Amino acid sequence: MYTNFCVNCHLLNGKGVPKTSPPLAMSDYLMNNIEESIKGLKFGISGEISVNHEVYNNVMTVQGLSNDEITDVMNYILHSWGNSHDKLITEEEVSGIEP
Ligand code: HEC
Repeated sequence: MYTNFCVNCHLLNGKGVPKTSPPLAMSDYLMNNIEESIKGLKFGISGEISVNHEVYNNVMTVQGLSNDEITDVMNYILHSWGNSHDKLITEEEVSGIEP
């Protein structure tokens, strides 16, 4: 999933591309804004966001994933590259998030 849908921008090592695609590895944004991150995967993210003290002002379009796929990819990125999160994201949680 990650390899198919996310590596183009966030790279295999999760470090992203400076000024263009923010990192997911050790991302303070991701860890502090899990619900917003899920919302971004469901509905897209655009405008200014700050990730690890760098401002990005770009667009992540909707990746066309189902709630089930978003659940899996969220659990993957929350437990990769040194990231850790104490609970698993559930499909119920993902389907409950609205724009
Ligand atoms: C076409 C490039 C692109 C693809 C593909 C993409 N993203 Fe993003 N992503 C971005 C950009 C650009 C932003 C920041 C948007 C902004 O500046 O408002 C972002 C932001 C994020 C964020 C919140 C910021 C952060 O770094 O913590 C998360 C989480 C995220 N993406 C996860 C994913 C996941 C998971 C996938 C694969 C399902 C994915 N993205 C696919 C470009 C992409």
